[in-house]
Amino acid sequence: MIVNPDIERYVYGLLPPRDPVLAEMEREAERRGIPIVGPGGRQSSAQLVRISGARRIFELGSAIGYSTIWLPGPPDRIPRSTTRFQPRQRRRGARVLRAVGVASRIRIHVGDALAALASVPGEFI
Ligand SMILES: C[S@@+](CC[C@H](N)C(=O)[O-])C[C@H]1O[C@@H](n2cnc3c(N)ncnc32)[C@H](O)[C@@H]1O
Repeated sequence: MIVNPDIERYVYGLLPPRDPVLAEMEREAERRGIPIVGPGGRQSSAQLVRISGARRIFELGSAIGYSTIWLPGPPDRIPRSTTRFQPRQRRRGARVLRAVGVASRIRIHVGDALAALASVPGEFI
């Protein structure tokens, strides 16, 4: 445990309701023991993206794509790259991205995240 449970309950009580796709991914991560940033991390990362004025994002390690689909949220138009270890995860990830309507803005790389990052030209700022 990292955060005091009382603080965690308080913070989680402030979060807006999640859309059904994200809520299902949270349940899946819980069931399968997959580490995802969760709804609290989601909100604070999205805030950092907005505050920093990021125009292009590279996500290193996407697991089931939970953070991929909301960074920084469907209404924005920020091109992104994300990485996965396994080819079979690419197919599943592509399905999820299509389902939530953000597939055209996200390029999925398979393999080591640092190698993928080094292979993509331009800056991520
Ligand atoms: C803590 S999880 C975060 C997942 C995702 N960002 C989220 O919050 O929904 C980190 C993920 O990065 C992957 N990972 C770790 N090192 C990696 C690397 N060198 N290249 C690609 N993926 C990596 C892990 O397999 C795992 O799926």
